[in-house]
Amino acid sequence: MLNKVAVTLLASGLLLAAGCSQKPTPTVNASMTQVMSPQAQTIWDITSRAFNAKGDGLDGSKLSDDDWKKLGKAGALMRDRARLLAKAKHVTAAGPHETILGAFASRPGFRKGTWDAASPKQVQALIDANPAHFAERARNLATVGDTLEKAARRKDVRILYQVSSGLDEDCDSCHQPFWGTDEPPPFPR
Ligand code: HEC
Repeated sequence: MLNKVAVTLLASGLLLAAGCSQKPTPTVNASMTQVMSPQAQTIWDITSRAFNAKGDGLDGSKLSDDDWKKLGKAGALMRDRARLLAKAKHVTAAGPHETILGAFASRPGFRKGTWDAASPKQVQALIDANPAHFAERARNLATVGDTLEKAARRKDVRILYQVSSGLDEDCDSCHQPFWGTDEPPPFPR
């Protein structure tokens, strides 16, 4: 029979094992290139095919069951990754082998305010200076993803339209403060 000490040891061993098997939170860079960017593209691609004749709303008859399935999945993937980032104890901007788009276009003193915050170090410093704001923006995107996932189940075109037309702003509202820009890098000269 197991005595109390053995049970305690066993329990702490299990906790340790669980702790060790926990994967580290993916970097911001990987989350953007592998999840946010492709999923947003899916949402925008499908939505842009479904505009009504007037162009001021969506025509649900132009969306197939498969479209809705893809939209729901895109929303869920964005939500899940945004939640991971929001809950992370420490958010890492980019790993040692990751390159942030435009980082090499960054030139201190040149066009300050545009591409002077594009290096991994600079982005990391911006996040570390205000992790609560970063988490809040991530939670906002998680809510948007969740809203889309639920709307897709009901095939709600009105909500799809709202999510799709507001998404760019949901992305930019985190890029502005933490990436330092929402513009593409300047053409190299
Ligand atoms: C909670 C903050 C946050 C939200 C929300 C967010 N991003 Fe980002 N994103 C960042 C940061 C910080 C960077 C720059 C640093 C990096 O790439 O690691 C970035 C960079 C990017 C990049 C450039 C990646 C590269 O190659 O370096 C793309 C593309 C991108 N985001 C797409 C999106 C899209 C699309 C959305 C909305 C669906 C979005 N992001 C929402 C924080 C966010």
